[in-house]
Amino acid sequence: MKNQIKQLEQAALQEITSAAVSKDAVEGLRIKYLGRKGVVTELFKKMSELPASEKPEAGQLLNLLKNTVTKALDEKLNSAAGIEEEKEALDVTLPGILSKPGHLHPITRTIDEICRIFISIGFRVVEGPEIETEHYNFETLNIPLEHPSRDAFDTFYLKSSGKYLLRSHTSPVQTRFMEKNKPPFSIVVPGKVYRPDATDASHSFMFHQIEGLAVGDNIKFSDLKGVLSIFAKTMFGKSIKMRFRPSFFPFTEPSAEIDISCIICGGDAQKIGGKRCSLCGGKGWLEILGAGMVNPKVFEKVGYDPKKVTGFAFGMGVERIAILKYGVSDIRMFFENDVRFLEQF
Ligand code: PHE
Repeated sequence: MKNQIKQLEQAALQEITSAAVSKDAVEGLRIKYLGRKGVVTELFKKMSELPASEKPEAGQLLNLLKNTVTKALDEKLNSAAGIEEEKEALDVTLPGILSKPGHLHPITRTIDEICRIFISIGFRVVEGPEIETEHYNFETLNIPLEHPSRDAFDTFYLKSSGKYLLRSHTSPVQTRFMEKNKPPFSIVVPGKVYRPDATDASHSFMFHQIEGLAVGDNIKFSDLKGVLSIFAKTMFGKSIKMRFRPSFFPFTEPSAEIDISCIICGGDAQKIGGKRCSLCGGKGWLEILGAGMVNPKVFEKVGYDPKKVTGFAFGMGVERIAILKYGVSDIRMFFENDVRFLEQF
């Protein structure tokens, strides 16, 4: 019987190896060897005819044979499954699965676009923390404690600390940067800012600003005008006009608010059929940013000598620019993440 088992093992392994690599072929061989009437099963039955002294060894050998054949069949089955899967994957007649590529959020795109314009004229991009201290958000910017001008920068405080707040503008990055760097330099600072405003079509408690700051030898108000005019024309078109209105910010002196001519009516109601323009309300101008010459007091706070350096600063709201540029009617749309809105960009 020993010999019979050896021969059977060789024959079975050989047959399994040379069989076709398919699930059906393997199943056929399993039945042939291990099935209820299979060759190996028959040998088990024959064991009862053996003399008692030979039974234990024969039993052991038969079990080994069964395991060897089972293992060989399983391996064959695995490679058959692999090949069948491959065949499925290679079925070029199946319709493809369309994947929808995503794209940048309109606010991210607007930030990139604005920064690129300033980079092209020598600015570099710098960032700062969203969680700030009163020191940077107010004091270094010449907004003293208990001063009424603080009301204009109403702020979220972080309750647990009593010390930290969510920055209400990107201006604190001005003084953070000046403390660590020597002029001349020109930077733009994009980022999120937070204000406890009730949400409506034009207000959000979180929005984005881009701060600008240029400091050096003999930087003049006319430099600010030139830089902002390049920005406005590149962003909104060559025919855009700019208007500077006197204004007040504690950290700039003199200060201005800057308007561009309305991108819908251009200030000419005739152009839109004599109706009142829905974008500018008939005024012909749209406010886009605040700016001014850096207040000497701010230079003193960061250890610069105001007799030696001058500079200008500006700050704009990114959502405001995107709303004007893309004709979006409600700021909330930027944050609702409705793909029907986002897909339009
Ligand atoms: N920080 C001001 C604001 O948030 C904008 C500003 C920046 C004005 C820089 C002047 C100079 O309203």
